[in-house]
This record gives sequence, structure tokens and C-alpha cells, in this order.
Amino acid sequence: MSKHGLIPPHGGKLVNLVVDDARGTTLRQAAPNLPTIKLGEREQCDLELLAVGAMSPLTGFMGAADFNRVCDEIKLDNDLPWPVPITCTAAAAVAEKIEIGQQVSLTDDQDRLLAVLTVKEKYPHDKKMEAEKVFLTTDEAHPGVAVTMAQGDVCLGGPVEVVAPRYDPQFPEVRLTPAQTRAAFAEKGWETVVAFQTRNPIHRAHEYLTKCALELTDGLLIHPLVGQTQKGDIPADVRMKCYSVLIEKYYSPDHTFLSVLPAAMRYAGPREAILHAMLRKNYGCTHFIVGRDHAGVGKYYGTYDAQRIFDELDPAAVGITPLKFEHTFWCKKSGAMASAKTTNSAKEDRVFLSGTAVREMLSKGERPPAEFTRPEIADILIESMRAKQ
Ligand code: ADX
Repeated sequence: MSKHGLIPPHGGKLVNLVVDDARGTTLRQAAPNLPTIKLGEREQCDLELLAVGAMSPLTGFMGAADFNRVCDEIKLDNDLPWPVPITCTAAAAVAEKIEIGQQVSLTDDQDRLLAVLTVKEKYPHDKKMEAEKVFLTTDEAHPGVAVTMAQGDVCLGGPVEVVAPRYDPQFPEVRLTPAQTRAAFAEKGWETVVAFQTRNPIHRAHEYLTKCALELTDGLLIHPLVGQTQKGDIPADVRMKCYSVLIEKYYSPDHTFLSVLPAAMRYAGPREAILHAMLRKNYGCTHFIVGRDHAGVGKYYGTYDAQRIFDELDPAAVGITPLKFEHTFWCKKSGAMASAKTTNSAKEDRVFLSGTAVREMLSKGERPPAEFTRPEIADILIESMRAKQ
């Protein structure tokens, strides 16, 4: 803990890469004469996280030494734990024309200037190695691997100066930076805060995890990821309606805080669980919930792999404490949420529903059992599916 009671950011100092107005004007004037790289959606999300310090201590896109050690050892070249490469890439033909030391303008998909990168290094993007080490598969049916494979063949490493972290951001009123969540926690007098990562509406199992965790800490940060997700995931605007209703009806306003994480999902399971934890440390959280198949997709990862990977790391260097939860479900015998650790009920007494089964029920206008999803949430989801049909 620091002298103010809050957990220090990863690497000790909160980074801010957003330039002041004067520098922004200079960069905007220079940008039209620079080579331009249009960032992919995941790269744009990474840039926003870099800009606001959520990826402290990173100050730009990774060079080769960081890339290789992150892939091989889950560490930056300065030995701090870090689980996934953060890269800016270009096609070989584009990269060839960029000199070391040169500035490059980075734009979004509508050609708006986001940042200027000073290129310190160019190196071949070893996508296969990245996929094997980070995603544990090279299967392009894996959504995170597909994004990596579609990136450029050359990585451009170097510091970035950010002019605009994002144009027209969604949910601006709750899109808080790490400095802002830290200030909010300090104002509330919270010293211990547990973060809950989610890319789904909050079902009963999620609610149970968050409330069990909150019994141990001063505050709970419900921190849904609202950047790029895969087709089939419930859109962030629908989820936000669910979170607001649920928090208002079923959570204590004195101990619960809602803000969004503008990250892209990588679906990298264990490696992404570490990333999710590191980001939340920078937002000022001391604890992080890791349940079953955290950030998983398909059958690429074992149910508890994302918990076990924390045991390979030095807890002091990680800093934030993972709170590991068993697969939880409604137990009819106990009339409560439970896990295999806390009930002796038979399988038929446990309410398990697959995501596909739930989606099917909702699309037919049926509420899933209240023991699985609260009716208020089911109704929002049914309504959103109806609107889409
Ligand atoms: S994730 O991609 O963000 O991990 P999701 O929103 O479904 O997906 O999960 C949010 C968190 O809740 C993760 O830590 C996940 O492991 C955990 N979780 C989801 N469902 C359960 C469950 N039934 N039992 C235990 N943990 C769960």
C-alpha cells in the first residue's frame, strides 16, 4: 500500500500519454506529412489503455526484447510480469519505407489522428510464436488468434504521444481513467477494492462471486469490458442496461462502483486473466475475481487454467491478489448459490445452463429460470433480441 492507502500502479508510476493542447496542435499539424498506419480495432483499444495509464508502466508499443520475453517468460524486459504483447504492426511494404527514429501517425478506422508513434525498432512479427505462447493454439478459428494473424508482418516499437484516446467514446460518463477510479476510491475511503471483469450480463453466478468477494473488501468495482468482442457476445449497450438495473436493485450503493474497461477481448484464457488483473491494479484495485474458464472461448483452456497461471508468478511482483472461485451454480437442495466446494448435492440438484441454451430461451421470449438470471435482466435481454429480429 502507498501512504495514501491505495495500491501502487504496476511499475510504481501511473503513466499518462495524452499530450497537452499545445503539443496536440503541433502533432496535428505535423501528422499529414507523416506515414500513416490505420490501427485495427484491438490496436485502437490497446492504444486507449496505454494512453490513460491502464497499461502502466508501458509508454508505447513493444520492442523486440519485450515481445520475446513476454511471450516466453510472461515478463517485460525489465522483469515485471506482463502476459501479452502490445504491438503496433504494419505490412512489410509499408514498414520498409519507415526509418528508425521517424514519426508515424496512428489513425482510427475513420482516418482520425489518434497518436504519433516515434519508431525506435522494426522487427518481424512472429505471429506463430505469439499464438503458440499466448493463445496456446495456432488455430485461426480462435478469435484472438485470428486477430493476431490478420495483423501486419512487421512490428513497430516505440513511445506514443496520444492526441485523442478515442473519438465518440461509448459510455463517456462511466469511462473512467485509472486516475479517476483511484480518486473515486480515495474519496470513498476504500483501501481494498475487488474488480470484477465481465463480458456478459451479470447472471446469478456472477452476482454471487461479486458479493462473496465484497465480503472481504471495502469496495467492488464492476468493470465490464466494452471494447471489441466476438460476434454472438451480447453488445455492450445492452449489458450496460443490465448492470445499471441490477446494481440499483440488488447492490449496496455505498460499496459498489460501475465503470467500463475500454479493452478488446483477446479470449486468451490464462494469459488474459493476468492482463485483466494487471489492468485493474492500475485502476486502483487490490483484488481480482477469477472464476471458471476466465476469458476463455471454445475448448482451448481448462476450467481452472486461468487460476493456476497465477501460481507461476511472483505474487509480490503481480501485486493484485487473485480471488479464485470454483464453478458456481444454484443448488436446489440448499436453496442457495453454491459450488462443489460448498454443497454435497447431487448433479440433478444443480442448475447449470449453457450459454447456447440461454440464448435460445431468450430469443424465443422465454425467461431462463430466476435461479440462473434475475427476471429484470432476462427482460432486458429478451427485449434487445426482439428489437434485433
Ligand atoms: S470473461 O470472459 O469476462 O471471463 P464472463 O463475463 O462470463 O467472461 O465471466 C466473468 C467472470 O466470472 C470470470 O472471472 C469468470 O471466470 C467468472 N464466471 C462466470 N461464470 C461463472 C460460474 N458459473 N462460476 C464461477 N465463475 C464464473
